[in-house]
Amino acid sequence: MNEEQKKAYLEEYKQEKEKGVKFYPDIIYKDLVVSFAIFLLLLGLAIFVGVAAEPPADPSDSSYIPRPEWYFLFLFEMLKYFPGQIEWVGTVIIPTIAVLALLLLPFYDRSPFRYWKKRKVATVIMSVVVVGIVGLTILAAVTTPPQEETALATTITDKIVLGQDVYSIHCVECHGAEGEGGEIIGVEGLEGVIVKSISSQDEMYTRSDDTFYAIIDYGQPDLGMPPFGLGYGGELSRGEIDAMVTFMRYTWDDRVEIPEEAAQAGAIPALGPDEVPSFEVHIEPIVKRYCVSCHRQGKKNNNYLMRSFQETMETGDHAPNVIPGDLNSNNILMLHRQEIEAGGPMPPTRALKPELIEIFERWVLGGAPETAEEAAALSPTAAPTAPEATETSTSP
Ligand code: HEC
Ligand code: HEC
Repeated sequence: MNEEQKKAYLEEYKQEKEKGVKFYPDIIYKDLVVSFAIFLLLLGLAIFVGVAAEPPADPSDSSYIPRPEWYFLFLFEMLKYFPGQIEWVGTVIIPTIAVLALLLLPFYDRSPFRYWKKRKVATVIMSVVVVGIVGLTILAAVTTPPQEETALATTITDKIVLGQDVYSIHCVECHGAEGEGGEIIGVEGLEGVIVKSISSQDEMYTRSDDTFYAIIDYGQPDLGMPPFGLGYGGELSRGEIDAMVTFMRYTWDDRVEIPEEAAQAGAIPALGPDEVPSFEVHIEPIVKRYCVSCHRQGKKNNNYLMRSFQETMETGDHAPNVIPGDLNSNNILMLHRQEIEAGGPMPPTRALKPELIEIFERWVLGGAPETAEEAAALSPTAAPTAPEATETSTSP
């Protein structure tokens, strides 16, 4: 820039300044307004949209693929090009060079002009950095799938429902459906062992959630309580144990009140006077809570599995254990605590509540339907309409 140009520039600058706005208060005011608008926007997003919490971190879960926040993805992508021993090139050297290049721009690009075409060095460096960051971010986003949504519960209700399921499958065989304890019957290796109640006031008042978590996580091996945490050779993730502790606390501790909707989500639906129960609506929740713990793969159970309708109807050394319409089905006899060829009373430790046995009986008597629709078609009140409907549709 020669003298001439400099003078012209300063002249122009002075004129601009004279017509211009003041930094204080004009610009400051505008900044404040915009910042406040953005603040309100964020507040609104946080209140009305929010971000779902992820399940608690699980150090023992080896299937987890860590993935940084989006604004670090480009650095993350670098790791792929500089793996292992030379990782430091991608994570330290290159980013440092890039930052220095930007930081020192005013020192090595001494062009007095502001127009971008006249500032080749600065423009090129800036473009390289921006294109690099954007490009790497896109590459990373495309090539790493987001962490698979773990279908784990985050609300209290979801946790209680999930916890109930997990408890039913893994704990009922030794601790009973209501955590009542007593003598263990029908569990290999622990036959006849007496366990204390884990749902008593005594237990609930003296054990914190953390204690429960720890006991379930690594068990009490010397007492016969196996470890359940993934980290100790068990099969339950942190989220599952956490949900189970929530379930135990809300269900058994008389000091906390279970949320209305949670109580309902876990409840077995009430039956109308003539209604035929169905497997999917009525029997499955009962079986899940009181039987599946023993009647699944790998347990002592005469090969009788009850994890689905099919299994409940067809498996077992003395199959069929459910004969539609026949109250002498093995299941019903055993629920009434009879000793028959197929085995002893079921569940071995404690009788089901009479109203649950009644639902079972009405299901078998009604024809043991699987779905709610099939059950509705079998109900006496629904019967007149169902055959009519099929008749009109089949006759020309
Ligand atoms: C194979 C049998 C078995 C299974 C399955 C089992 N437990 Fe246990 N559990 C025991 C035994 C035995 C004890 C020792 C307690 C006793 O002697 O009263 C125990 C102790 C406990 C205790 C500690 C009681 C206390 O205060 O000292 C808790 C809590 C517990 N179990 C919860 C669970 C939960 C939750 C599950 C399901 C994930 C489960 N258990 C599954 C057998 C079992
Ligand atoms: C604590 C474990 C345990 C629980 C809980 C349990 N069972 Fe059993 N069940 C067994 C064992 C063990 C056998 C094998 C026969 C025996 O030892 O009495 C068995 C056998 C049976 C059989 C005979 C199967 C065949 O083909 O021989 C039926 C039917 C049955 N159970 C129904 C139920 C029902 C229904 C429930 C739930 C209401 C239930 N059981 C809960 C352990 C259990």
